[in-house]
Amino acid sequence: MRILSGIQPSGRPHLGNYFGALRQYISLQAGNQPFYFIASYHALTSVQDAQLLHEYTMGVALDFLALGLDPEQSALFAQQDVPEVTELAWILSCVTPMGMLERAVGYKDKIAQGFAPNHGLFAYPVLQAADILIYLSDLVPVGQDQKQHLEMTRDIAGKFNQQFGDVFVIPEPYILDSTAVVPGVDGRKMSKSYGNEIGIFDEGKDLKKKVMSIVTDSTPVEDPKDPSESTPFLLLSLLASPEETAEWETRYKAGGMGYGEVKKRLLDLIDEYFAPARRRRQELEADPAYVTDVLRDGGMRARAVARQVMEKVREATGLPTTY
Ligand code: TRP
Repeated sequence: MRILSGIQPSGRPHLGNYFGALRQYISLQAGNQPFYFIASYHALTSVQDAQLLHEYTMGVALDFLALGLDPEQSALFAQQDVPEVTELAWILSCVTPMGMLERAVGYKDKIAQGFAPNHGLFAYPVLQAADILIYLSDLVPVGQDQKQHLEMTRDIAGKFNQQFGDVFVIPEPYILDSTAVVPGVDGRKMSKSYGNEIGIFDEGKDLKKKVMSIVTDSTPVEDPKDPSESTPFLLLSLLASPEETAEWETRYKAGGMGYGEVKKRLLDLIDEYFAPARRRRQELEADPAYVTDVLRDGGMRARAVARQVMEKVREATGLPTTY
């Protein structure tokens, strides 16, 4: 099956990104041939500083490789290395009803967050459809927040096929398991836009400060506590063994345990869990040529597929290449 997903480069990944998506992308590699790309054109809708955008793009590549993406199994590439997607986005935009884009919640959210309402932001879902359709992707693993974008992609593919003949595969969304709710330090969903995130690659004092600042209630040490509502416990349960998690649950309910103790253990667990990835990231940072090679190779593999599909699209739409 062709699996495809895109990741926007917009800063450093946090525990929420990891448990919500990255971990699952990595585990989907086995037995499949995934295409994972860094959605740099999408990021350009809001990151308009050349150096920063490039840094973020390389950063995602480093993160992925450090966390276990195997470039033999997966093609990892940057979106701009397959410029054909922008051509396809134009063609798809001609079969995309305005009303569909006007209903996009992603756009409304961005505007509500204070982003300038540029055309790229508005047309974002069409480019995303192009990303998916150009590789004839079967399965698209994404977080719950991308559900509407996937529905739009399926609609757009259907409209194109109906008008011009069956060129595109109608992709299936694979909504990633989000039962692992990952709360941030303030107890709300961990998200960069809330500024409550704990970064995977945070270390030492910074990490400690963040973990210790996790908001808890004021139940006295001796009283029983409810683990299901407690951020340190919820985070700990993502990292600890089931046995250890059960032990902490018992201790919460019994009383006599302070939140400081759980936070300390949580800090150690984060360090243990991500130590190998942090080490690997440092090694990769020292070897930028390797990272560039991986992206180049992934980009070439992806582009070969995209070019073939675009030949069909051009034929189907009456735009055959003349040379
Ligand atoms: N919009 C996605 C996000 O913000 C990123 C993305 C761009 C994407 N193109 C894609 C995801 C294609 C899946 C498939 O997370």
